[in-house]
Amino acid sequence: MSAATITVINGPNLNLLGTREPGIYGTETLADVEARCVAVAEELGLALECFQGNGEGEIIDAIHRARGGSAGLVVNAGAYTHTSIAIRDALAAVEAPFVEVHISNVHAREPFRAHSYLSDIAAAVILGCGTQGYDFAIRRLAALVSDR
Ligand code: DQA
Repeated sequence: MSAATITVINGPNLNLLGTREPGIYGTETLADVEARCVAVAEELGLALECFQGNGEGEIIDAIHRARGGSAGLVVNAGAYTHTSIAIRDALAAVEAPFVEVHISNVHAREPFRAHSYLSDIAAAVILGCGTQGYDFAIRRLAALVSDR
């Protein structure tokens, strides 16, 4: 049997990790984060696919591609978290669970970051754990996938 696949989706501006507001988001690059995700997935016997996009439509297309093939998704939709009903609808159309991740604690920031269009349909939400949140999300999905 082939390994279940976890899909990691990062939204706008997360390609700038490492140089973008390092006081908030840290100094690891997206490549560092994705490499760690691959290592965690390997440890858990999972396959991993990563996608980053700055546009709402390309993120929705990546979510559609995950339909059927992916056992679970890790989603940091960046600022679209707070605005995008379309990304919410795309995620709702995926049977597999997703874990919403935010590197920063969005509740300790501007009030407009406190609302998420995704949280109430997420299997779990991880906030303010820095880039380690991605590790936690993959581990949680591994547990959820093995329960199915
Ligand atoms: C973020 C928080 C969002 O409010 C912000 O727009 C981002 C990153 C985070 O990972 O903390 O781009 O999702």
